[in-house]
This record gives sequence, structure tokens and C-alpha cells, in this order.
Amino acid sequence: MICASLTSPTMDAALADMERASELADIIEVRFDYIHSPAVRPFVERRIKPIIATNRPAREGGNYKGDEENRIALLREAAAAGFDYIDIEMDSVDRLGGAGASKVIVSYHNFEKTPDDLEAIHKQLVAAGADIAKLAVMANDIRDTLRIFDLLRGAGAPTIGLCMGEEGVITRILGPRFGSFLSFGALADGKQSAPGQIPIRDMRELYRVNEINADTKLYGVIANPVAHSMSPAIHNAAFREKGINAVYLPLKVADVRRFVTEFRKLDMQGYSVTIPHKVDVIAVMDEVDQFVKDIGAMNTVVNRGGRLHGYNTDCLGALRAIESVMGGDEPLRGRRVVMLGAGGTSRAIGYGVKARGGKLIILNRTVAKAEKLAGEIGCDWGPMDRLPELTFDVLVNTTSVGMHPNVDETPAPADVLKKGMVVFDAVYNPMETRLLREAAERGCVTVSGVDMFVNQAASQFEMWTDTDAPVEVMRNVVIERLRGH
Ligand code: ATR
Repeated sequence: MICASLTSPTMDAALADMERASELADIIEVRFDYIHSPAVRPFVERRIKPIIATNRPAREGGNYKGDEENRIALLREAAAAGFDYIDIEMDSVDRLGGAGASKVIVSYHNFEKTPDDLEAIHKQLVAAGADIAKLAVMANDIRDTLRIFDLLRGAGAPTIGLCMGEEGVITRILGPRFGSFLSFGALADGKQSAPGQIPIRDMRELYRVNEINADTKLYGVIANPVAHSMSPAIHNAAFREKGINAVYLPLKVADVRRFVTEFRKLDMQGYSVTIPHKVDVIAVMDEVDQFVKDIGAMNTVVNRGGRLHGYNTDCLGALRAIESVMGGDEPLRGRRVVMLGAGGTSRAIGYGVKARGGKLIILNRTVAKAEKLAGEIGCDWGPMDRLPELTFDVLVNTTSVGMHPNVDETPAPADVLKKGMVVFDAVYNPMETRLLREAAERGCVTVSGVDMFVNQAASQFEMWTDTDAPVEVMRNVVIERLRGH
């Protein structure tokens, strides 16, 4: 069940929000501690979904700062008026003196940490007379969430369990799967009543919280930071499109080795791995692909029967994007490929081009870096200003030249671009760089950074599900996000 927590400051706004929230949420929590001059009856009269009365004091993370007797009196009034649930803090439950026909949620909050004695606290909540026990604790590391999942699985009584904070977000998505009575969401971004709350629309439509069950396969992106990652939007849309019972989670991970090791018990079926973990994660794989060994970085984990396999779809996605516009069986074999830049992206694509039989030359501003990388890959190299002298079929830009805000810059003079060439730019912000615009004007076939990004995700999806990725759906999500909706 998804519960919308209302944090409006006035009665009128709270009542209007209750009506709106009732379209998406299964149950509504009225946070009376946010409302000036609150009254209980109008909520009961206008409710569409079951309602919870909460009047949280400041000491438990709420807004109520007045007299304690008045605080409890409002909850008694709410019970008498017919609220379905009354939320009362563990230390105040005796003062409530019963709640009539309303069910009592006895709650415990810890804004500092996930305490060691979660089970003991849960026992106290149940012993205090909880119809439903609620524990909301702060996650300081994503591994804290495993303890909430363990608690929920073994609770034996109706329980709401969650970790607050960005590291705890997955408990808000997966809580119900492990038995949480409900999961709280915010009416909208910026209206969170606790740290880490997800907007209810995303809970319902993006993460499909109410459809998650014991068979739902779990995937996620390991990153730090993770909040701006487009991957949850892309992969969840793809699972939804294909009708696959799976959910893709944002995983804010500080220590990737400990995370992957400890999360084996959740049987996650796959991960995307991104900055800053692409190198460190290799150490905790059971097997890695040859490209991962060559490149020394990976971005994809596939769980096959409990064994974790590492791949690099930055490389595979770029190859797929380039090869798809060339056609033929081995489109890169024997083709002359010039690659600009000698950083991480160049490394990933360079090994791929070489493995596909392309004749590669790497040009870089810092020539020593081009020489070093070319030495490892086994290809030619040179300074950037050699570009006009070269004859080639494919041009690949992996430098950041032309990236927002320097959109008037280009890494290649327009007159080197000839009709029929393939020009690929790894930059995706803007979607059409000056390089790609000039290439298109001269009759080149262009491939954008968006194509690479979408294809690396599509390759992940296909490895995880053994079905064709809905590439157009995935591309539309990326384009929508890049355009800022
Ligand atoms: P990534 O992981 O995206 O490849 P990176 O490893 O930081 O990023 O590499 C950035 C690449 O862009 C490098 O090849 C860099 O050239 P240097 O090795 O000379 O630093 C290149 N680059 C960045 N800004 C550039 C500029 N203004 N002109 C030319 N090359 C540039």
C-alpha cells in the first residue's frame, strides 16, 4: 500500500491535497503537526481513502511545538471522529488511553542511525499495544536497509519498517515486498515529510510499488551520487513496456565491494555500475568479460545462478551504436577509425574498435596519453593537429570539446568531414553538438552520445532479460530527461 503523507500548512490546502492524493495513494496520512489551527472532522467527512491522524512532536522529527496534553487531545478527537488509524509515539501511548474503533500505529523514529537493537524496539512497540508497529530509522549506509528487510521478514505482526535518507530509498520501494504494511510517499517533490520520501506518482508509475511481489526480480544502479541518474527511469520504463516483473532501484553506495558482497543475500539479478565504482567493483565479480580485463573498468553485473559476471556495455553500446548505421556483418573490419581523446571513454571504445578489426588511430591534446593508450591497445597515435592529414571512414570524438556550456566549440575542423563518413560524438549534452551538426550538413552519417547511452542501457537490458530491449521507449525517456521534461 502506498501512503501519501500530507504536509500542507492550512486546512484548505490539506483538504485539497487529500483529494488529489486519493487518486494515487491507497491511504492518506494527515500530518496535523504541519497544519495551523487544525480540525479533525472535515477530513473524516471528505475522506475517499482510509486516513491516519498523526500529530508528531519536534522530539520525534515533527513540527508540533505546543503543549503535550493538547497534542494528544487532538489524536483522541480524531479517533472519536472516525479516523481509521491513529499514530502515536511509543513514549506517549499510555497517555492516549485507547483509540476506540481506530487502529493504533505505535511509532518509533531515529533520525541519527539504524540502531543495533531493532528487534528489541519492535517487541516494545508490539507490547505497548500496537495494532501496527512503525519503525522509521536513518540509514547512514545502504547496507543498513538489509536490517530493516530482515526485521520486516521476521516481524510476525503488522509492521511498517523503513530507512530514511537517500541511502534508505530502496526500503520505500521494496518495503511492501518484505511485508511492510505500507510505504510513505510525498504528494510532490519538495513536499516530503521525511528525508528520502519519493513522490507517490513515481512510487506508483515508475517503481510500480503496488505490483512488486515475491517474484519481482531486482536490479539497480550502483552510484555515488545517484539522485540524478537517468538509469532508473530508462530501465523501469523498459521493464514496464515489456511486461517484465522486475524493478530497477537507485542505489547510493559508498563502499562498492562491501555492498555487492552483503547484497548477495537479496539475490539482486543485475546492476549497472557507474561513477566512482567502475574499477573497484571488478574485485568482487566471480567472472569478468575479456573487455573488462582489457579496459580495466566495467559497468554491468549479471547474476547467473548466484555467480556475478562483469561486462562493459559502455564499450558494447558504443560499438552497437556505430555498427548499426554501417550495416553488414563486420562493419568495422578494415575501416580506418580516428578517435579523438585518450581518457576513459576512449579506452573503452578503443579496445572495442580494435577487437572488431578497425584500423585505429588515437589523437589527443596531451600526446603522451595518446601514446600510452595506443601502446596498450596496439594501434597508432598522434597529436590532434594531424587530423587534417588523415584519410578515414569513421571519426569518434571522446573529448569533452563541444559539451555544454561550450557548445560553439568543435574538436574537428568542418573541412575534414566528408560525405559518407560516420561521425560519432560521445558528448550527449547538447544532443546535437556542433561537430554532429556540421557533419550532417556535409552528408556524413551521424551517431550521437544519446545513441551510445541508450545502447549501453539496451545491452544491459538484453543481458539481464534475454529479450530485445524496447530501444525507442528507452531513447524517448533519455530525450525527455535531457530536454528537462
Ligand atoms: P572520459 O572518461 O569522458 O573519457 P577523461 O578521462 O577526463 O574523460 O578524458 C577527457 C579527454 O578529453 C582527454 O582526452 C582530454 O585531453 P587531455 O588528455 O589532453 O586532457 C580531452 N579534452 C578535454 N578538454 C579538451 C580540450 N579543451 N581540447 C582537447 N581535448 C580535450
